Amino acid sequence: MDRIGCFSEQTVELSVKSKSRERTIEIGRVFGSFLPAGSVISLEGGLGVGKTLFAGGICAGLGVMDKVLSPTFILLEEYDGLFPIMHFDLYRLEKLEEVQSLGLIDAADGCNVVLVEWGDRLPDGVLRFDIKVYIQIVSSNERIIDFNAPENFTRALMENNVFNNGS
Ligand SMILES: Nc1ncnc2c1ncn2[C@@H]1O[C@H](COP(=O)(O)OP(=O)(O)O)[C@@H](O)[C@H]1O
Ligand SMILES: [Mg+2]
Repeated sequence: MDRIGCFSEQTVELSVKSKSRERTIEIGRVFGSFLPAGSVISLEGGLGVGKTLFAGGICAGLGVMDKVLSPTFILLEEYDGLFPIMHFDLYRLEKLEEVQSLGLIDAADGCNVVLVEWGDRLPDGVLRFDIKVYIQIVSSNERIIDFNAPENFTRALMENNVFNNGS
């Protein structure tokens, strides 16, 4: 598998189904294995859809050995992977100033991989996301994961088995 060097300008949509939590982690791992340095990613959907599990998969794909937990109560967790990873959770965000004091804008301006749960809580234009991931619950163990992502990255995902055998 070849990690993407940089993202193409054009973005496309991709949708994949996950029938288990393990599958969601695996999809995240493959996703993380193609991410270039500096990727800024929004993880969206309601409470309990699987954003943190997916973030854990992304971290695994970036070589992180630690367990990835929800930063809901602390708003930011950092991991050392192939690149520094900053995992934010904006569920409890009340004021836009908190984003500044958390260092989110600065974090997204370097080689860090930035994962933002509830990224859709940010007003338009505050941050430019390279990829948006939107997870929906289908049933207790099933999820639909929608991606809006650069065309070259999406192509790399689609060539991977995890994205084309539907289980
Ligand atoms: N296919 C699936 N993908 C992701 N999570 C699933 C799936 N099926 C069941 N779950 C459960 O949904 C929950 C997702 O939790 P979490 O990742 O913390 O969600 P969020 O961060 O979106 O609030 C976990 O308890 C997980 O076991
Ligand atoms: Mg979470």
